[in-house]
Amino acid sequence: MCGIFGCIMKKGNAAPVIHASLKRLEYRGYDSVGIATLTNGEITIKKDQGKIDDVHKLVNLDDMAGNIGIGHTRWATHGAPLKVNAHPHVDCTGKIAVVHNGIIENYNELRNELENAGHQFVSKTDTEVVPHLIEEAFKKNPAWTLTEAVIDTIKKLCGSYALAVISTKEPEKILCARNESPLILGIGKDASYCASDLTAFLPMTNKAVLINDGELVTLTPGKYEIKRIQDGSKVVREPKVIDWSPEMAVKTGYPHFMIKEIHEQPATLRNTLRAQEHYLDLISTFLDRATEVYLVACGTSYHACLAASYMFSKLAFLPTYPVYASEFVEQHGKSVNIDSTILAVSQSGETADTLGAVTCSQQRAATILGLTNTVGSTLTRVSRVYIGQQSGPEIGVAATKTFTSQLSVLAQLALRLSTKRGKVSQDEMDYLAEKLETIPQVVETIILTQEEKVKALAKKYKDAKIFFFLGRGINTATAFEGRLKLMEIAYMPAIAFPAGESKHGPISLIEPGFPVVFICPKDGVTHKTLIGNIQEMKARGASIISIIEEDDEEVKAMSDDYIEIPKGIPEVISPIPFIIPLQLLAYYMAIERGINPDMPRNLAKSVTVK
Ligand code: G6P
Repeated sequence: MCGIFGCIMKKGNAAPVIHASLKRLEYRGYDSVGIATLTNGEITIKKDQGKIDDVHKLVNLDDMAGNIGIGHTRWATHGAPLKVNAHPHVDCTGKIAVVHNGIIENYNELRNELENAGHQFVSKTDTEVVPHLIEEAFKKNPAWTLTEAVIDTIKKLCGSYALAVISTKEPEKILCARNESPLILGIGKDASYCASDLTAFLPMTNKAVLINDGELVTLTPGKYEIKRIQDGSKVVREPKVIDWSPEMAVKTGYPHFMIKEIHEQPATLRNTLRAQEHYLDLISTFLDRATEVYLVACGTSYHACLAASYMFSKLAFLPTYPVYASEFVEQHGKSVNIDSTILAVSQSGETADTLGAVTCSQQRAATILGLTNTVGSTLTRVSRVYIGQQSGPEIGVAATKTFTSQLSVLAQLALRLSTKRGKVSQDEMDYLAEKLETIPQVVETIILTQEEKVKALAKKYKDAKIFFFLGRGINTATAFEGRLKLMEIAYMPAIAFPAGESKHGPISLIEPGFPVVFICPKDGVTHKTLIGNIQEMKARGASIISIIEEDDEEVKAMSDDYIEIPKGIPEVISPIPFIIPLQLLAYYMAIERGINPDMPRNLAKSVTVK
């Protein structure tokens, strides 16, 4: 799980461009960084462990000559995050340099063979076999072109990779290839780029070319040529114009991406709600026909699925099963079949566990549907139908705006399905659809009126030993997501349960002053029972923090602290507004505790390993 970038320009130095682009890819991993450039028949490399800014301070990543180069920001899989393991990696002669995202599964075997043939390895990485294999190919076939040597090498690799290669043998090109790791080209007037993600090159060009598995690309300034690795045949693919502005991908004055993205939610929700009628219709048709539906995802996307299972049940009377993708194959791998439908939800569309569940289901002839923020991602290629949730790039590792967008697409789907099935009265449907339309405004009001209160809460509770989150019904998902945010961003130990479960164990943890957050919408039948749960906790000395509707005097009176949400939110869409204060809480708690919320330790935005 790393970010790769390559750049070839007609004139000028590539290094500062690569450095700036790697900064935009830093969310993919940030334990080490490196750049290789090529000039006058020589490759120069600067790399080290540490974050990009720290390494730049030490070695000046901009000060490297050459109009062509490749770069890498790493999240260690094979080999500790040390300078020696940082990419780019080179062959014995230093004439071939490679950056890689993915995992070469047969690297041990390949390394043994290469070492027996006299190659010297310096790192513990799987990647290092690649430049040595290319070197070996040239040794055996001195007349080969770089393309031939790279194709020969790739055919020996098992596993996943997005690779970029430069060599002094043919110094006027970059070669790159893809199998199961993301790779996209950016084509400018006098420059071409390859990257793990288009955010990397958006400030330079909005013309992008998606690369598929099994393809090899030759990049020259402003040009590209795609070939199928298997048979060498040429692929013709025109660039697409991407309408994400570069401004959407930078911090626009906010101190962190996370808070910028929390604030973007009114706008992203408006965008999402404009989503593609046609695809909503298609997906709801598939869901209507399905005998059994699994909602499959990881992390925050799983919490969206959990909430969606209540939406589908309440609005469309359709039972659906939310499953952690990492458990799917073990739990359902044998029973999933031609009558099963999988709705896979993944912001990145590249999460290995989610794709693993999809592959297993596909092999058993199930129908695959997708919801993702990344058009062109692997999930969009393997889905029968998919919906792009239109949240724009999310850079903060913690999912915020993409979660609320997922919820709003899933609510739209449930409403569609409900209409199809005629289970809910037209009046109720119209009411819910209208309410959903007002959600962006509601979210805007919450941010405007409650942010300072949440900041104060974070100050008050910053030294708490542990946090407790409780909700009922659909807001069990909100409680789980609030817990995940606080834990991953502020390193605050936290637990979450459906409130009804709290007396079956968790309540034994309660000590005086122990903060318990209740997610407490007024609509629906859960309000009354939740009041009972609040009393149970209060009686044991817990500090009650409630997220309530603004006229909920009863719960207000029982709470030590409360955050208010505009009134009149239907329960079935309440997770969208009710999660906002909890996102803000995680952010400000991280700030209070001196933690950078954009770079939580040990985590990465896109988890492309199982
Ligand atoms: C990682 C990210 C989470 C995300 C999860 C699933 O753990 O840190 O924010 O929710 O992956 O990612 P996906 O792209 O599949 O939604």
